[in-house]
Amino acid sequence: MTQGLRVDSYTALYGVFGDPVRHSRSPIMLGRAFAETGTNAAYVAFHVKPEALGDAVRGVRSLGLRGVNVTVPHKVEVMQYLDEIDETARVIGAVNTIVNRDGRLVGYNTDGIGYVRSLKEETGRSLRGARILLLGAGGASRGVGYALAKEEPARLIVANRTEGKASELARELGAVADTQGIGWEGIDHIIGNVDIIINTTPIGMHPNTDATPIDPASIRSGTVVSDLIYNPLKTKLLVEAEAAGLVVHGGLGMFVYQGAYAFEYWTGLPAPVAAMREAVLETFE
Ligand code: ATR
Repeated sequence: MTQGLRVDSYTALYGVFGDPVRHSRSPIMLGRAFAETGTNAAYVAFHVKPEALGDAVRGVRSLGLRGVNVTVPHKVEVMQYLDEIDETARVIGAVNTIVNRDGRLVGYNTDGIGYVRSLKEETGRSLRGARILLLGAGGASRGVGYALAKEEPARLIVANRTEGKASELARELGAVADTQGIGWEGIDHIIGNVDIIINTTPIGMHPNTDATPIDPASIRSGTVVSDLIYNPLKTKLLVEAEAAGLVVHGGLGMFVYQGAYAFEYWTGLPAPVAAMREAVLETFE
């Protein structure tokens, strides 16, 4: 594997903490970003078990790693080991990016803002004044929902199988936007009255690619359909919605932009987004 630059005694080290982590595409994507910008840096995957997380974070300080991405299952637990948590990450309750500022570790969450930037840039739609339906009320929905709420949508409706979790998330986001939580069966009544539908559930994810969270035939024309899943790159929901003439948006952009924000926080340089996307796409070939 090439990082594009030789490693020497000045090489800045970055990485991702996860368990499991060998499936991660972040080293390929961030490695390309460093190579593309001529940054003397390397990015590697660290398999960190839950019981070793505290030691691993102390290692970031002692070894002087410049930054770390944090993935499943550490995004919540890692917060207790950091020196400072950015406000967005604190509200979401999860950290996916750590910045080492001269030994002081600061936690950020770039998932939600990464998703919103990708949705806006890839569909060209404004979220201001839009009626948005979020399917699911788990961790991913929370991060994305908070970033969406800040875009001043007309209404943000959270639908979830467990209705209590939808109401709870809607109540929390209600501080920022006009929100509503509903149960799964309520979707039929509102699906014709929304502008953007976003799937945050794992329904349709590899290997269960034949499933869809909702019936694509029930979506009205003009609706943007988005899925956080990026394996497959287009879920059945998106394939069918696109065949029906709807604008669709897959989850790859969220992955690329959450990494782009991390790169920008670490280096202060504009992320080479197109090259990063290309590097990830090559891993699907
Ligand atoms: P993540 O962190 O990826 O969001 P999560 O916190 O486990 O994962 O949340 C998964 C979400 O998908 C939840 O909203 C879950 O609904 P419940 O809260 O009722 O469990 C939803 N989900 C998962 N499988 C589902 C299914 N088969 N049908 C409907 N919703 C499903």
